[in-house]
Formats: sequence, C-alpha cells, structure tokens
Amino acid sequence: MPHITFNNPKKELLVPSELDGTKFNFLAKSYNFTQKPRVPEYKICVERENKEFLLTLKNKDEDFILKADKVTRVTPVQLVKDSINSYINLVDAKVLFSNTQNFSQKLKPTKSYLKDINYFVNEFNTNKEIQIEIGFGSGRHLLYQAKNNPDVQFIGLEIHTPSIEQLLKQLEIQNIENVLVVNYDARLFMEFIKSNQVGKIFVHFPVPWDKKPHRRIYSNAFINEALRVLKLDGTLELRTDSRKYFDYCVGLLTNLSKGKIVIDINKDLEVSSKYEDRWKRQGKNIYDVVLRCNQLDKELNLNYDFSFDQTIDYEQIIKTLSTKAVVKDDFFIHIEDLFTIENEENSGLIQVTFGSFDRPLSKYVLIKDGKASYFQDLPLPTSANIKAHNQLKEMLKV
Ligand SMILES: C[S@@+](CC[C@H](N)C(=O)[O-])C[C@H]1O[C@@H](n2cnc3c(N)ncnc32)[C@H](O)[C@@H]1O
Repeated sequence: MPHITFNNPKKELLVPSELDGTKFNFLAKSYNFTQKPRVPEYKICVERENKEFLLTLKNKDEDFILKADKVTRVTPVQLVKDSINSYINLVDAKVLFSNTQNFSQKLKPTKSYLKDINYFVNEFNTNKEIQIEIGFGSGRHLLYQAKNNPDVQFIGLEIHTPSIEQLLKQLEIQNIENVLVVNYDARLFMEFIKSNQVGKIFVHFPVPWDKKPHRRIYSNAFINEALRVLKLDGTLELRTDSRKYFDYCVGLLTNLSKGKIVIDINKDLEVSSKYEDRWKRQGKNIYDVVLRCNQLDKELNLNYDFSFDQTIDYEQIIKTLSTKAVVKDDFFIHIEDLFTIENEENSGLIQVTFGSFDRPLSKYVLIKDGKASYFQDLPLPTSANIKAHNQLKEMLKV
C-alpha cells in the first residue's frame, strides 16, 4: 500500500488548498468513539483528476505515517501516490521512508470479458438466453459450453483469481465472445439478474464445506433466487463427488412448489472437468441433482433509495451512536468509527460496515452541515444493503 513516513513538517495543512494538481478538500479527526484512549487519526479528503478519496494520517512512534485509506477506493493507484507526494511537498516535511515514487506503470490489457459487479447492476442487458456457471475453476466445462452454444450468453462466476486469469487467457486464445466473467460470490450474484431469463445454472463440484455449512453455495435463499432467475424449464444443475453435500442439497430441493428434481449417479457428460477426472480415476461416485423450474416469477423490484432525507444533528449523534453491531436475520450494521471535520460545524465522517454476513460492505457516510450522503459511490443495491441503509437512517435520528 502506498505510504510515506515523515517527521518535522514545517507547515500546516490548510483546507481547502491545492498543490501539484491535488486538492485538499477537508480534514477530519477521529472522535474518541471507542472510549479507549488512542492516538488521534486523521482522514484527509483529497481530489485528483476529479476523483475524490481519503488518505489516513496518524502517528507512528515519534513520527507520522500518511497512507491510502482502506475503505475508499481509487484507481489507478498512481493517484494515491501523487496525492501523498503533494501532501509532503505542501507541509515541507522530512521523508523517512517512501514507496510513492513514480515508476512508469505497465498498463494491463483491457479485458473486455472481465466485468465488475457494477456492470451487472447498471448496464448488463441481453435478449439472449443466459447460462451461468458457478465456481468454474479451470474453466474446461464453461469453455466447452460457450463454444458449442454460440447463441447463449454465458456468465462465469469465480472467487479464485488465478482461475479467472486462466479462463480469460483461454477466452482470448480461443476467440470465444459469449462469456462474461465476474469475480463475485455466487451466493449474492443472482440478485442482479432479471427474473425468468436464465436457461441453466451449473454448480459443478462446489466446495462441500463439511465443517462450515454456512459457506455452502446451496441454501434455501440461494435456491429461491435460482428459481426466480430461471425461465420455465430452466435448470439448476449440481454435480458433486460428495455424498454428504448431495444429501444436503436433495434435502433442500425436495418438495418445492416451483420446481422438481431428477437425481442421477455416475451420469456421463459431454465434457469432464479436472476435478471430475480425478474422482473418476479414484473410482469415486459422482452424483447429480437437477432442479427444473416449473413456474414463472414476477420481475424483481428492488425499490431502493440510498439518500438520507433527514437533517442530522452530528454533535448529538457522536455522543449517542453505539459501537455495538446491530445484527438481524439477514443483515447487520456496525459503526466502526466517527470523525469530525475540522473547522466545519455539524460535519463529519461515519465509518460503517454493513449488509450481508457473506459480503459485508465498508463505507463512509459524509455529513456536511447536517446533510448526509455516501462518500464516493452508493452501496450496491442488494436487499441486505438496502435494509442496512434503512436501519442506519433510523440510527441517525435523534
Ligand atoms: C472444487 S472447485 C471446482 C471447479 C470446477 N467447477 C470443476 O469442476 O473443476 C470449486 C470452485 O468454486 C469456487 N467457489 C467457491 N465458493 C464460491 C462462491 N461462493 N462463488 C463463486 N465461486 C466459488 C472456488 O474458487 C473453486 O474454484
């Protein structure tokens, strides 16, 4: 992470100010929120190339350290390095260590197959049938399906970066154009897909998580979401070598009103994955359970509004907000830290982590003159984030 340690600043940071293309918009100081005595930490709001983000400034023994803030994100990382360098020039300090030098950066080739989750929230739209492979691993099955079904739009979900890199390479080499790849937890992805548009969802050899069942892909919530996105006669296809996982899934999939299952053992598919080859060599049984959707669903109406309509009495809020996490069945919210903006009334930053237990989201809420908004972009509109936002609005009422 880019950072500089320094001491002996000869000048003070004045806000707002600007140097070397970096704007210093405000300075916020940590409020002693946790009641434990601690060294104050500052967040400096900077802006470069029209991108606003935070830097963290704190003491390190007798010296200071200035680094990128972990919650706010900005690319390319050079913007962070340049803004740290501008700060040091501005306060005219003695640098003790720095990793913010300018090295010419090799630009990675743009990978049009690889999409950010925001693409699926805001832009993705297709009239083609969609098929999704969850945890594609080596990608052998996904590549085969994509090549043999050029009219289908495939989406590959993975959380293991080397597997993603490998698939992207193969897609380029084999010139396959009907696959989109996203690095996202499959258990939460379906929320961004329209109802009744998916022909098949493949879940081949998922990690069985014998000791941590809450990490499994299959759950009642996942199955309900799968049935919502599947079209009539669309299928959710599990293939596994784990008898335990198979039994668990059959338990969840039996007696559903919206779908029927078919079970198989040692069924041959046209393509065999790396895992499958290994299990077959070891003489293990392979189990299949295919859920066929027999009902159409309503279009998902995620009615969300991430604004804060109330005026906030921040001076009061910092005295009353609790650090104790609010934990509900399907979401949580935890206030991590509070900062007050120097020389501005009724203004500060609230650092919060919230949303689903599987994919918590960290954000800052910026309060300026009693008006609250999310710093940088809005949270992703998942049902857990929407509920957490509404809870936060309640917590900010005094
Ligand atoms: C045992 S491997 C099987 C890979 C491939 N399907 C095959 O048959 O060779 C399971 C894969 O699922 C991925 N995975 C695990 N949990 C996931 C999740 N929640 N969302 C997306 N992928 C996940 C893992 O990274 C891993 O690559």
